[in-house]
Amino acid sequence: MSIAWNPETQEWHLGNGLTSWVLGVLPNGWIGIHHAGAPLAAGPSYAHLGPHDFRGFDNRVGEPVALALPVPGLGDFRVPALVVEAADGSQVVEPRYVAHRILAGKPALPGLLPATYAEDEREADTLEIDLADGPTGLVATLSLSIFRDWPVVARSMRLKNFGAARVVVRTAMSATLDLPDDDWRLVTFSGAWARERMPVDRPVVPGRQGVGSLRGGSGNEHNPSLVLRRPATTEAAGECWGAVLAWSGNFLAEAEVGHFGTTRLRLGLHPEQFAWPLEPGASFTTPEALLAWSGGGLSALSASLHEVLGRRMARGPWRDRPRPVLLNNWEGTYFDFDHDRLVAMAAEARATGAELFVLDDGWFGRRDSDDRSLGDWVVDRRKLPQGIDGLARAVRAQGLLFGLWIEPEMVSPDSDLFRAHPDWAIGVPGRRRTESRQQLVLDFANPAVVDHVAGAIGDVIASAPIDYVKWDWNRFITEPYSPTLPPDRQGEFFYRYTIGMYELYERLTTRFPDVLFESCASGGARFDAGILAWAPQAWTSDDTDAVERLRIQWGSSFAYPLSSMGAHVSAVPNHQTGRVAPLDFRAAVAMFGAFGYELDPTAMREADRAAVRRQVAFYTERRDLFQYGRFTRLRSPFEGDGNEAAWMVSSADASRAVVAHYRVLQHPWPHRDRLAVRGLDPAARYAVTCWTSFEAPMPTFERGGDELMAVGLGIEPPDPMPEGREAGADGHRLVRGDFTFRLFDLRRA
Ligand code: GLA
Repeated sequence: MSIAWNPETQEWHLGNGLTSWVLGVLPNGWIGIHHAGAPLAAGPSYAHLGPHDFRGFDNRVGEPVALALPVPGLGDFRVPALVVEAADGSQVVEPRYVAHRILAGKPALPGLLPATYAEDEREADTLEIDLADGPTGLVATLSLSIFRDWPVVARSMRLKNFGAARVVVRTAMSATLDLPDDDWRLVTFSGAWARERMPVDRPVVPGRQGVGSLRGGSGNEHNPSLVLRRPATTEAAGECWGAVLAWSGNFLAEAEVGHFGTTRLRLGLHPEQFAWPLEPGASFTTPEALLAWSGGGLSALSASLHEVLGRRMARGPWRDRPRPVLLNNWEGTYFDFDHDRLVAMAAEARATGAELFVLDDGWFGRRDSDDRSLGDWVVDRRKLPQGIDGLARAVRAQGLLFGLWIEPEMVSPDSDLFRAHPDWAIGVPGRRRTESRQQLVLDFANPAVVDHVAGAIGDVIASAPIDYVKWDWNRFITEPYSPTLPPDRQGEFFYRYTIGMYELYERLTTRFPDVLFESCASGGARFDAGILAWAPQAWTSDDTDAVERLRIQWGSSFAYPLSSMGAHVSAVPNHQTGRVAPLDFRAAVAMFGAFGYELDPTAMREADRAAVRRQVAFYTERRDLFQYGRFTRLRSPFEGDGNEAAWMVSSADASRAVVAHYRVLQHPWPHRDRLAVRGLDPAARYAVTCWTSFEAPMPTFERGGDELMAVGLGIEPPDPMPEGREAGADGHRLVRGDFTFRLFDLRRA
C-alpha cells in the first residue's frame, strides 16, 4: 500500500519510492499540501514543511499556504480550484475535512470520463478525501491515485449537493498544485494548424500565465499539457513536473506566481463558458489530471507519462499490439480516386511491405470537394461501384488491412442530413451560423444526434471488413448552444458536447472492439490524453514535412508516447512547405512514431519504391522499439540554430537501441562532434551499426555502454574527408549535403 494515514499528525503520505505527496488536515479543517515531488521516507511527519503556527486566515490574509482545494473569498487570493455559487448568489464556500478512504486500486470515474486505470489492485492506491461546506451542503471529494510503478498521481474531484437548494458550479479544476517557490520555468505546447505542440519555455513571473482552449476541442493552438522545470533542468537531469488533462474539450492549464513567491499550477475545465447547476442530490465529476514528477530530467518525466498514457490510459486490444505500417491515399489523390485507382495503390503499397491501406476523405455522398456531403455516410457509387465492401475485400485480398476515414461530428450545409435536420447543427436560433471549411458541427450535446450518427457510422463499419478508422474533426465550435438544454443549463454545453463525442467513441469501440481508431482533427488538433482512451494513436499533424516534423514530434513527445504519434512519409515537394527532402530522410524522421506513408505509390519511380521497401523492412524489424521503447530526447531542434536534432529509443533491458541524429543543412568544415546517448548498460558492450541511408549500413563496430554514454557516438570525424572515403574506426562514410541523418542500431554484444 503506497498510502499511509497518520491519525496523530493528521497526515497522508502517498509515496512509492519515486515520488511523495504529503497532505494534511490543517487546524481549520482545510487540506494542506505539505510536500509534493521528491520521494521522502514514509513514517515521519512533514507538517513542519507546511504552514507554521497556522491559525486560519482570520488575521493573516494572503498567507502562502499550500492547499489541496483552494476556494475564493476566504483570504487566499490566488486562482481557485473550486467556485460555487450558492442559492443566495454568494460565491463563498468553505469545504472542510469530514472523512477519507484509502482504497486499493483505482476506481473508475463515472460516466464516460476517460481515466487511467489499474489492471489489478496492486498497481495503484487511491485516497479519497471528503470536504463538506455546511451552509450549502456541498461535498467535494478529492481523489488522488498513486501508481506503484511511476512517479505519477492522478487527480479528480467529485462534487455532490447534499443540501436542500440548487448550487451552480462555476469553476471545478481537476487539480491544483501549490509549490513553495517560484524558481520554475513553464513549458506549454502551442502552435497552429500544421505546427502543433511547439514547446514554449519561459520563466514564471508574478501573476497568471498559461494556455487554454475555448474552441470546443483541445485544439492545435495549445495542448492540455504543461511542464514546470527548474531553470537548470535538462533532458538528462534536474527536477520537473509534467501535468496532462484527460479531456478533449475546453481546458485551462496555467501557473500562477503569488506575492509570496509561491507557484500554483491549475489544470481543468476552462471556467469560461462553463456553469454546472447542481440540484439537491446531484453530482458532478471533473476530468482526470495526471501529475508526474521527475528528479532526473525531462526525458525521464516523459518516459513516465508515456508509460501511464500508453499503458494505462489507452485501452483495447491495440494498446500493446504492433501498429501496422499504413498507406493513406489523402495526399496521393485528395478527392480524385476510384475503385481501380485505389486497388492499384493498395497493390503497390503491399509490394513495399505496408500492412494497412487507408481510404481517406471523399468516399461518401457526392464528396468531390470539401464543401459538401458530410453527414451523408453512404458510399459514392460513382467512385466506388463495388461499395466500401467491394473495395475493402479487394484490398484485403492483397494481404492488407483496410481502413476508412470518417468525420462523424460534422455536417455540410449541402447534405441530405442537414436538409432533413437543420436543427441538429450547432447554432443559436435566430442567429447566423459561422461556417468553417464550409461545414457545421453537429450538436453532440443532443443524444438523438449521437444516436443517429452511431447508427449511420456503425452501419458503414459493419458493412465491410474494416480494421482501422481515422476519425477526423476539421473545425472548431462556434455559436455554442443546444436547444435540448434549458436556458439555465447552457453552461453545460461544451462539456456535454465532449461527453457526446466520447459516447460515440464508446459505442463504436464497444461494437467494433478490434478496430484500431486513430484520432485526427485537421491534423493534430485533438491530440490529448483523454482521446487515447478510445483512439490509441492520433494523426500528429497535417504537416508531413520531415524538417517540420522534427519539431512537431519533439514537442509532442513531452507528454505523448511514440505509439500514439501517427507519422507518415509524404511526397515531395512537400504539400505544406514545398520543401524537397530526400526520401530516406523523410522516413528516418517518421519512423519515430506509428509509421506510414501518405502518397501515391503508383506515381513513384521504381528506385523510390525500392527505397520504401527497405524503409518498411528496417522499421518493422525494430517496430517494438520504435513504438514501445523508451524514448529519450538528446538534441533539441529548438536549440542553437535548430539545424540538428537527435533522439533515441531503447529497450527496457538496455539490450537494444536506435539512436537518430538529423542535420538539416550542411555547413563546411564541421567541428568534431560526438553524441552522448543514454539508457544503456554501462557495463555492456554494444555492436553499433550506422545507417546513413536505408540502402546499406556501415561496417559494424563495437563500443562499451560506458563510452557511448560518457563520450558518445561519432557524428563528425575530426577532419573533413573526401566524399566516399571511409573515415576511421567508427567506419563512417562521410555524409555531406543537406537533410542528412544517421541511425545507429545498438545491440548488446
Ligand atoms: C484533415 C486531416 C487530413 C485529411 C483531410 C481530409 O485535414 O487532417 O489528414 O484527412 O482532413 O479532408
